[in-house]
Amino acid sequence: MRNRPEDAPLPYYEDFSPGHGDLPPRAWRPASDAARLSLDGTWDFRLSDTAEGADTAFATAEDFRPDAAAGWHPLAVPGHWVLQGHGAPAYTNVRYPFPVDPPRVPTENPTGDHRRVFDLPEEWPEDGESVLRFDGVESCARVWLNGRELGVFQGSRLPHEFAVGGLLRRAGNVLAVRVHQWSAGSYLEDQDMWWLPGIFREVNLLHRPAGAVEDHFVHAGFDHATGEGVLRVESSPAGRVLVPELGLDLATGEEARVPVEPWTAETPRLYTGELVTEGERVELRIGFRTVAIEDGLFKVNGRRVLFRGVNRHEFHPERGRALDLATMREDVLLMKRNNINAVRTSHYPPHPAFLQLCDELGLWVVDECDLETHGFCDFEDWRGNPVADERFTPALVDRARRMVERDKNHPSVVVWSLGNECGAGEGLGAMSRWIRERDPERAVHYENDHTSRDSDFYSRMYAPHAEVELIGRREEEALEDPELDAHRRSSPFLLCEYAHAMGNGPGGLAEYQRLFREHERCQGGFVWEWIDHGFPKTTADGVPYFGYGGDFGEELHDGSFVCDGLLFPDRTPSPGLLEYRKVIEPVLMEIDPVAGVVEVRNDQDFADLGAFAFEWVYEVEGESVAGGPLTVPPLGPGASARVELPGRPGTDRPGTGVWTVRAALAADTAWAARGHRVAWAQRAVGERAVEPAPTTPGPAPRRTDEGIALGPALFDARDGALLRLGGLAVPHAPRLDVWRAPTDNDLGASWQDDERHAEVWRALGLDRMRHRLDGVALADDGLTVRSRVAPAAAEVGLATTYHWRAVGDELLLTVTVQPEGPWRSTLPKVGLRLGLPAAYGTVTWFGGGPGEAYPDTRQAAALGRHRATVDALQTPYVRPQENGARADVRWAELAADGAPTLRVTAVDEPFTLTARRWTPEHLDAARHTSDLVPSETVWVHLDHAHHGMGSQSCGPGPLPEYHLLPREFRFAVRLAAR
Ligand code: GAL
Repeated sequence: MRNRPEDAPLPYYEDFSPGHGDLPPRAWRPASDAARLSLDGTWDFRLSDTAEGADTAFATAEDFRPDAAAGWHPLAVPGHWVLQGHGAPAYTNVRYPFPVDPPRVPTENPTGDHRRVFDLPEEWPEDGESVLRFDGVESCARVWLNGRELGVFQGSRLPHEFAVGGLLRRAGNVLAVRVHQWSAGSYLEDQDMWWLPGIFREVNLLHRPAGAVEDHFVHAGFDHATGEGVLRVESSPAGRVLVPELGLDLATGEEARVPVEPWTAETPRLYTGELVTEGERVELRIGFRTVAIEDGLFKVNGRRVLFRGVNRHEFHPERGRALDLATMREDVLLMKRNNINAVRTSHYPPHPAFLQLCDELGLWVVDECDLETHGFCDFEDWRGNPVADERFTPALVDRARRMVERDKNHPSVVVWSLGNECGAGEGLGAMSRWIRERDPERAVHYENDHTSRDSDFYSRMYAPHAEVELIGRREEEALEDPELDAHRRSSPFLLCEYAHAMGNGPGGLAEYQRLFREHERCQGGFVWEWIDHGFPKTTADGVPYFGYGGDFGEELHDGSFVCDGLLFPDRTPSPGLLEYRKVIEPVLMEIDPVAGVVEVRNDQDFADLGAFAFEWVYEVEGESVAGGPLTVPPLGPGASARVELPGRPGTDRPGTGVWTVRAALAADTAWAARGHRVAWAQRAVGERAVEPAPTTPGPAPRRTDEGIALGPALFDARDGALLRLGGLAVPHAPRLDVWRAPTDNDLGASWQDDERHAEVWRALGLDRMRHRLDGVALADDGLTVRSRVAPAAAEVGLATTYHWRAVGDELLLTVTVQPEGPWRSTLPKVGLRLGLPAAYGTVTWFGGGPGEAYPDTRQAAALGRHRATVDALQTPYVRPQENGARADVRWAELAADGAPTLRVTAVDEPFTLTARRWTPEHLDAARHTSDLVPSETVWVHLDHAHHGMGSQSCGPGPLPEYHLLPREFRFAVRLAAR
């Protein structure tokens, strides 16, 4: 390393300023007739350990040859070098992975030199200007073309352009880019995600003909009183605006009013037009809509909007944040198909093509600036926070400006967000003022300063239900400053993050949705978050799994906290997404089987029900008896009606009758095919929902040479354990089980003030319960086995009695659990665990399904007959934990080829069923899915009760009604092997 004189100016990558040499930002355009040359592809690349470790000959020496120089490799651009075999990704949530001393960065500063040689295509025009555009480079770049330095920039997820016309040659142009992983800008980019340096979005050469559009701003409002669109397009230079579909041909700057169909996320009507200047034709995609804060509400086109949103990071398991168009489209389609109507682009502007997809397919967008300084929260009063340090203000305003200028023409973008988790500071005020001045036609959002000083919303993250309710009534605690309080209290409320979707959960979604419906101030929220950021890895013996923080040699990391999405890393929906989809359905239906009606409510904000077709089905014990279409009037938004069901179909089939009504797309849409289900409701009828315990007396147990015989079963004479049931030898007899492998939500987050349940459970020893046999008694009415279940070193215990009776070819097992001693904790669950031979690989059940469900995550489980293999019952949470329970089970059959089927029937109350090839203890010990190795046994759990899931991995725990408190439990099942 060369020495730096004390007073030497800091190098550009440690400069507070956003950079120099680049052009002012301008609007992104869907298409233009000006020439474009993509510079994506294979580049030459060299990695150095330090910012100045290598010389710049690669950029400046005319005769430089990467193939003749040391250390050069091919690299795909766009891409992150750490995902292409050079260095490794690193994950931290809040903490900066380097010493905090802004604007200085460590000497160890991975630096990637990128080089690409290109020719101009034949038809590249001779005249005009050309611009070199970078859509995203993390975190700081220095750029040369043909040996001439163009400039430097910071601001990773923002566009940067350089004028290069005079430097271009017809052939052999050398573009050189030096990218530093760390820069002063890194202090502004402390988002909770992987640190992934590189040129991760496209690089283009854009021809700018004389008279080309420098910048344009489409103002397309909707006057909901008259039904007219109000269009004005600003452009420099001036030109004409053509919208043939509306018969419009007007000058830029001029205003036109015409009747239009408005744009909303539900009805994303776009009009295609053109902006024509002397030198260029630019495509316009115009969506007419007007955003306003009115009557304390956020409104579009005069109506309150309810955000059913998600927070979306850009993530692909192989490509990191270098997303391709197909993946962006998949994200939008998945959102639409799962009833999501809004996205917060946490915590940076996404690839612009994503916003275009939101325009086309219909999603409300909160476009968030590339800004987070969360790591400073660990210091007293956020000491050193860049948003409170005026030397950073130009960089902050530059970021706001680059976002707004780039994205200003997207109708989907209705809110600008200043950034995430930066505490408070004047820099935020400067950003907000700049944005309001430039674009008064949208709302501004910021969460982390709870005075809402710079925000049009009162926004919070992870607020518990009770607090949301208080805010919904505008009765939150007052701020000290009356003016700020008045502003905040009259602002609409958003949960910019809630329902932390880490691992199993989030619980409590339905209860939040109820609050959003009840209180107009609560305009919905954005689940944290869309996708797990897990990178694929394989074990030494070739077993694939997803890795997370700590799996890449990081010195500091935050483990699996980066896997907290509604999608698994490969974009398979997790049960959380299915639950969310159910909870936010656009149509609400409630069946009253006695009155024979279904109450239908259109829960959309703009569209009527015309897009949906309705049907009904009547099933008995999961088998369809009859069904048909249901005629529902095309109710307007918010309207409801009672719709008659046909009379209950006659059938002599025994079992539980269930009504189901469904709403599905009546025709193909741009995002799903006809028949795609958007909503459903169910209601069981009939008295036989769950069978009561039989009362007829059975045979008495008797001692034999083999053990204790009772009806179809044999028990161990010493400990009363079930050995055999009919022709089924039971390797592990049923016994009480209270342990579950803690979920991320059970574990909670280290900063939580509230009791973290799993910590208490483990401290108490609920993961190492011992079973003491207290007695085996034979009586006329059956076999009774008494025991006490308790952990070492504890005074608490569970007095547990198993009472067995024979009823025909079945066994009736009744379990009584009586807590003893001073219990001060919740229980993970209460149920039975038994083990069957590994061949028992198929499960059929009548109950909730097809997916997993827990007490506060069970909206999506439909009562029906379901079937799955034991392997398919597992939910592969990236960090293994409790999963896979099927709730509300009335009966279940576990089958093996050539062996009797075990049938379990619920008595008095349904049970929760789980079957897996490993124990909860194995699940608990596993760090990755590859640690789960099938055993000789299929472990079957027949659970009577579970503690709720909640969202405590970041937010509140389960609601009190979902706490499983020790009390007397009594539950029963019938077992038969046939
Ligand atoms: C929030 C933050 C997100 C993410 C989340 C936890 O505080 O804004 O970026 O870190 O918590 O997963």
